[in-house]
Parts: sequence; C-alpha cells; structure tokens
Amino acid sequence: MKKIKIGNLELNSFVYIPPMAGVTDLAFRKMVRVFDKDSLIATEMISSKALMYNPEQYRMKLSSDEHPVGIQLFGHEAEAMVNAARIAEEEGADFIDINMGCPAPKITKGKDGAALMREPELAVKIAKAVVDSVKTPVTVKMRLGWNECEKNAPELAKKLEQIGVKGFTVHGRTKEQGYSGKADWNAISKVKQSVSVPVFGNGDINSPEDALRLIEITNCDGVAIARATMGMPWLSKQINEFLSSGKHLDEPSDIEKVNLAILHLDELIKIKGENTGVREARRHLANYTKGMPNSAKIRAEICQINSREEGFNLLTKLKEDLTNVKALAETAY
Ligand SMILES: Cc1cc2nc3c(=O)[nH]c(=O)nc-3n(C[C@H](O)[C@H](O)[C@H](O)COP(=O)(O)O)c2cc1C
Repeated sequence: MKKIKIGNLELNSFVYIPPMAGVTDLAFRKMVRVFDKDSLIATEMISSKALMYNPEQYRMKLSSDEHPVGIQLFGHEAEAMVNAARIAEEEGADFIDINMGCPAPKITKGKDGAALMREPELAVKIAKAVVDSVKTPVTVKMRLGWNECEKNAPELAKKLEQIGVKGFTVHGRTKEQGYSGKADWNAISKVKQSVSVPVFGNGDINSPEDALRLIEITNCDGVAIARATMGMPWLSKQINEFLSSGKHLDEPSDIEKVNLAILHLDELIKIKGENTGVREARRHLANYTKGMPNSAKIRAEICQINSREEGFNLLTKLKEDLTNVKALAETAY
C-alpha cells in the first residue's frame, strides 16, 4: 500500500480513528497513543456556532504529544465555520475535518452534518470558505448520501476535491440508515474512483481482516475505525501492523486491560474532575471488560460507580478474580 498524504501531512499509518461524540475526547486519545503514535485521530465534533458565541467554553484543547490529530467542525454558516477553522489551526490541528455525515435529527434539522449532502452547493460553498481561510489541510467526512435514492457521495466528493479538499472519510451508509443494516463497502469504492486525494473507507470494521477486506473491495487508501476501538485502544496499531506487514500483534491480557481501564478512569478524572470523569468513565470501563468471564455482571457493577475509589476498588477486585481464574486454569492442566 502507498503512504498516505493529506495535503502536506504525511502519515505513517493506514488507519484513522474518526470523531465520536462523547468518546474521542482527550482522555480516549491519550489511551490510543499509549499504543499507537502514528494513526490519525480526531476530536469529537465541535459546533462552529457554539465556538463563535462562546469561545471560552467550547475551544478545543489538543495535547502536544498526540499528533497527528484533527479537529472536526460542524455547521452550515461560512462565517462561523471560517472562525472555527482559524481557531482549530491556532490550536495546532494537523487537519480540519468538516462533518457532512452526522445523521442526528438535532444536527440535520439545522442543515448541519448529513443535511449538507442534500444541499451540495451550500456544502461546497462552506468547504471553499474554510479551505481558503487556513493553510491546514481540510478533509470531509460524509455518508453515501441522504437516502437510497439520493446517493450523491461520488459527485459531491469530486466537487469538493476541485475546491481544495485534501481527503475524505466515507461511511458506507446513508443518513436514513443511521446505523442499521450493513455498511456498503462496494458503494464506497465509487467515491474512491471519483477523486484522486486519499479516501478512508469506514463502517463495520471490527478486525484486521475486515480492514484488509475493505481495502481489497474499495481500493481505498486507508480505513477509518470508530466503534470497534471503544475499550480497545490498541486496535488501530494492530490493524495498521496487519495492513503493513501481514503480522498479527497480540492483544493485552485481561489483567492488562483492567490496568488500562484504571488508567483511562484516572485520565478522565484529571481532565474533567471526579464527578464528570467518573460518570463518563462508566461506559469506557465497561468496554474494557468485554469478553471477560462474568462480564455482564461486571458491566452492571461498573455502571453504578460514583467515585474514583469505587471504580478503583471494583477494578482491583476484578484483577484479583482474573488472577484466581488464571491460577485455577493453570492447575487444571
Ligand atoms: C458514539 C458515536 C459518536 C459519533 N460521533 C461522530 C461525530 O462527532 N462526527 C462524525 O463525523 N461521526 C461520528 N460518528 C460516526 C463514526 O465516526 C463512524 O463514521 C461510524 O461509527 C461508522 O464507523 P464504525 O462502524 O467503525 O463505528 C459517531 C459514532 C458513534 C458510535
């Protein structure tokens, strides 16, 4: 596979962890960087309008050791988007991504997110305003289109490339599909054929083998992996290694996964304080325990934690149980 270049940004990975609201915050991105210094990663989406009216509250914060990292913006007003893009550039984003894929009604009813795919002229106008206002490469994340009858991703991507967009991420579903059904990887290949800048294929990749299959079907330059990375911050590294060399890297042991969960809890508390940090940590901690013995019970208990101490004690007890299970298994053979 050929190295990916997004404008002047040269990448050492074929993997991108795209934005996930409520997930790809600084703590999550730090967890990914424990394993993987190279894959592209993006912030949660940020409202350009909120940033314009309340910059103190909504200004995005990047850490100096997390590059390459992009900031995703949403909005449909050129002035707000340009203002947000300039702030993202000041903050040191390696790329600025425009959200044209979010299907949530509260976003699309204001003409933002996937609604821009229905208004291609507006989408191009906004993207051009952003491209012309910053030196940082601008990318777009889109779906296949609004619905089965309006799959205009290839035509829109072509127009966006002409005004200077340097890369695309394409989720192989329409807005109307939301997250139902299966991502249509064949349809992603039509976008890849319509542009010459890099395209990341996205949707339903859960393993290194899935990633390779998507590349074979679509001929995309790289893959974007979202949900499968939750509770698996090592996955992007594993997938990049498999795509680059065909090698399978081991995943952490269950006990190592619990240590990662504790680290994630502490990062969230450091950034957001104990109250918010613990509340937001619950879903992440539960994800780390997927597939462990008794995981349904553990997840239910994790969802009840209210303090760092409760979380730490629960996870420490889990490590003891896992050690005992391991010792038992070893004596049985
Ligand atoms: C909880 C959650 C939040 C998301 N937030 C965003 C977002 O802010 N911006 C965006 O472009 N896509 C967002 N997405 C979509 C993902 O980036 C990705 O396109 C989608 O989940 C399909 O990829 P996957 O099958 O690998 O998860 C979100 C998805 C999830 C599950």
